[in-house]
Amino acid sequence: MAKTDVIAGLDMGSGRVTCVIGAPDPETGELRALAGASVPCRGLNGGVVTNIPEAARAIGEAMEKAEQASKQMVRGVYLGVRGSHLQSFNNRGAYNIARTDKQITPEDVASVIENAKAIHLSSDREILHVLPQGFALDRQRGVPNPVGMEGTLLEVEVHINTASISHLNNLTKAVAQAGFEVIEPVYGLLACGEVVVTPEERELGALLVDFGGQSLSMGVYSEGWIRFTKDIAVGSDFITRDLAMGLRTSMPTAEKIKIEHGIAHPRLINGDHEIQFPLMDGRTSRTIKTSTMMEFILPRVEQIFSAVADDVSSSGFADMLLPVGAVLTGGGAQLRGMTDAAEQILNLPVRIGLPNPQSVGGPEELLTPGYATALGLLAFSQSQANWASSSSPGAGAKRAAAGWRRKLSSLIEDLF
Ligand SMILES: Nc1ncnc2c1ncn2[C@@H]1O[C@H](COP(=O)(O)OP(=O)(O)O)[C@@H](O)[C@H]1O
Ligand SMILES: [Mg+2]
Repeated sequence: MAKTDVIAGLDMGSGRVTCVIGAPDPETGELRALAGASVPCRGLNGGVVTNIPEAARAIGEAMEKAEQASKQMVRGVYLGVRGSHLQSFNNRGAYNIARTDKQITPEDVASVIENAKAIHLSSDREILHVLPQGFALDRQRGVPNPVGMEGTLLEVEVHINTASISHLNNLTKAVAQAGFEVIEPVYGLLACGEVVVTPEERELGALLVDFGGQSLSMGVYSEGWIRFTKDIAVGSDFITRDLAMGLRTSMPTAEKIKIEHGIAHPRLINGDHEIQFPLMDGRTSRTIKTSTMMEFILPRVEQIFSAVADDVSSSGFADMLLPVGAVLTGGGAQLRGMTDAAEQILNLPVRIGLPNPQSVGGPEELLTPGYATALGLLAFSQSQANWASSSSPGAGAKRAAAGWRRKLSSLIEDLF
């Protein structure tokens, strides 16, 4: 896809479809976010489509709203994919430079990454991304970009993300039914990281947590590379459900109470107010103190961040996270006191990650955690376009031929 096209970032979340339309700035040619929309959708659960026609309807509605607001027509979308069907692991590849001219070319880099992809995958899974984590040349590690250097043995360490083919196909079908085309599926966490984690933080070492409704994604960056990623099937909707059960009220009422009065850490209690709310029958109402309401929230918050802490700890990359700590984003991050709770349980400094306005810009109302992934998809498409135009014609052609389903690497643009 040419850098000059109007495109959309489409984030299929848990219960919401969120899109942002971007078009090239007439002066600079840089892709800029113009408008976005987010609509509820009953056909999604934790990033997975459970009802294609309903998902297609929501995609159509969100895209139409964004098209009207941006006065643009869109055909192709970068599709944000997440959910616990995503799996990731690290692997290595090696490639011998057999030529008399030992100068490493972009094609050699493509070949060593291709070699790192030689893994056994079950028939229902496919590779979404192969992300380099640094190269070694003749056993000398720590080479960020070997192109132009000389050597005989090129090695690479990579991070590989795989996804369920059926889940990807169902998402693609829903997009097609809405009348759009998937340019490329992108792991939502990586897109989100493009706009909420700064390059300095990625270099120093940071944990990104995208706290959604029914799914939570986490990723560890260090030395500028992604080292570990994981999606788990927990989210802020679980807090809503706990509140609904605890207060014996409906989910919509519990959601309202959570957003208006919810607190994730006792430090945030400021006077113990009484909150009035309707019971399940919709006729009788009850009151509850803020401190009592909080008792229904805290155990789940603790369970969720403890799960994150356990996963990061067992990944072996926990030591890489200081001094930056964690960047917390997604709708779930907006519950008051969430950073305090996260700091306490993760034992790390935590900041809220808002989309960086310098990235792809966008109207102020889009610069919120809820739009981070959709905006990040636009930023991601740019790094792809930069790579395609700056890498060698050979590598570019190879990548184009491979197509989105089997492309080599989505972050390779960093290398050239
Ligand atoms: N202001 C807020 N305060 C507390 N929770 C919020 C707020 N806004 C959104 N949420 C919660 O965030 C979750 C949705 O997060 P989001 O990232 O938009 O979802 P997803 O990406 O999983 O579709 C919901 O559980 C919602 O209740
Ligand atoms: Mg989200």
